[in-house]
Amino acid sequence: MSWTPSSWRTFPIKQQPTYPDQEALKKVEKELSAYPPLIFAGEARTLKEKLAQVGRGEAFLLQGGDCAESFANFNSPNIKNLFKLMLQMNMVLMYSTGKPIVKVGRIAGQFAKPRSSDFEEIDGVKLPSYRGDIINGMDFTSEARVPNPENMIKAYNQAAATMNLVRAFARGGLADLNRVHQWNLDFIKDNPLGQKYDELSKKIDNSMKFMAACGLTSDITPQLHQTTLFTSHEALLLNYEEALTREDETDQKWYDCSAHMLWIGDRTRNLTEAHIEYFRGIQNPIGCKVGPSMGEDELIELIDALNPENEEGRLNLIVRMGASKIQEFFPKLLKRVRDEGRHVVWSCDPMHGNVEKTSNGFKTRNFDNILSEVEQFFAIHKEMGTVAGGIHLEMTGNNVTECTGSKSCPLTENDLTSRYHTQCDPRLNASQALELSFMLGDIIKN
Ligand code: PEP
Ligand code: CO
Repeated sequence: MSWTPSSWRTFPIKQQPTYPDQEALKKVEKELSAYPPLIFAGEARTLKEKLAQVGRGEAFLLQGGDCAESFANFNSPNIKNLFKLMLQMNMVLMYSTGKPIVKVGRIAGQFAKPRSSDFEEIDGVKLPSYRGDIINGMDFTSEARVPNPENMIKAYNQAAATMNLVRAFARGGLADLNRVHQWNLDFIKDNPLGQKYDELSKKIDNSMKFMAACGLTSDITPQLHQTTLFTSHEALLLNYEEALTREDETDQKWYDCSAHMLWIGDRTRNLTEAHIEYFRGIQNPIGCKVGPSMGEDELIELIDALNPENEEGRLNLIVRMGASKIQEFFPKLLKRVRDEGRHVVWSCDPMHGNVEKTSNGFKTRNFDNILSEVEQFFAIHKEMGTVAGGIHLEMTGNNVTECTGSKSCPLTENDLTSRYHTQCDPRLNASQALELSFMLGDIIKN
């Protein structure tokens, strides 16, 4: 039962690359393990406290970002647009729930992807699948698809620079509540959704004026001037995570310092395998995806393996069943966890169970299915008397065409060709994500 950052290595493991050059891999692991951590353990503890509030229904969790970050799309506008979108959604949700919103980005480390097949075949040519930029390249050539350990160094550096900018935005004034109008993204500004957001901004402006008259201005009230965006990713590539696992001086416990929060994917959550072994030993708040194949006993065992002290805020179960399956598979799991008194933070990922393939060959998700899964998730919690804690989305602050449907940006299958930019799964564009936030606000209010 003894745990070390490397004890996962003696367990079976899924979804990993086979590095042809083991010496090069070792060299990179050694180098990374000497690099500075990307987060401070105290921040992970703060997030855990905030998630404990979410679990009790005192706050709401908004987690979102790219399906996969990439080296090619690494630039300031992409980070800034996602940050602004998060702030907008934060405003909408805070206004309608009357609760603080805990913001967690799929950002600064979301590089490794589980794949449904180890190989990809195009026109009779069969190559290893793309597993995310931290592992290999997306180009369909045999050179690009060879796993390269050096990509871990590049991913670390990109994560560090991303984190640096996110911290600057969060603390440097962009998040000041006097700037709510400026968060409106250019391509949404003039449509009815942008106008709806503008109306909300005006109400916030009035509140700010009122508070300023009371003497509460943002220059003396940090809560009005700053925010926090925590970071998270799927800790799939354990070589990278192990190298960034550090013992904290304060509590002499181990933290994965690659992000504030890490989660286990639906395909790597087997109880007897490496990911569970690694996760049980780190003190960060953690997540685990829960898909339709999860059994009731299995779920209780999983909770007890990952959170043996039944600590509040430690474990986020991210439900991703699909709109057509959630009613069949989720209530019995929820009832069991409720009846057994386990503390978990429940959130809804309405993306990963709702993937479909269009006739013209695109992977997409339809807005109505996404919304439907969210609605059902909340209704099931209401029925059960439990807390629907949050939402987990794949989204971008850019004007992409990857998911179909929605009122504000009613894309059809034929529109997908125009700006389909995702590295992996289809994301909500900023307009679709903002629209979903308004609808979510209404669901929560009612
Ligand atoms: C993801 O969140 O990008 C993902 C792969 O999800 P899941 O493990 O739920 O399929
Ligand atoms: Co995805």
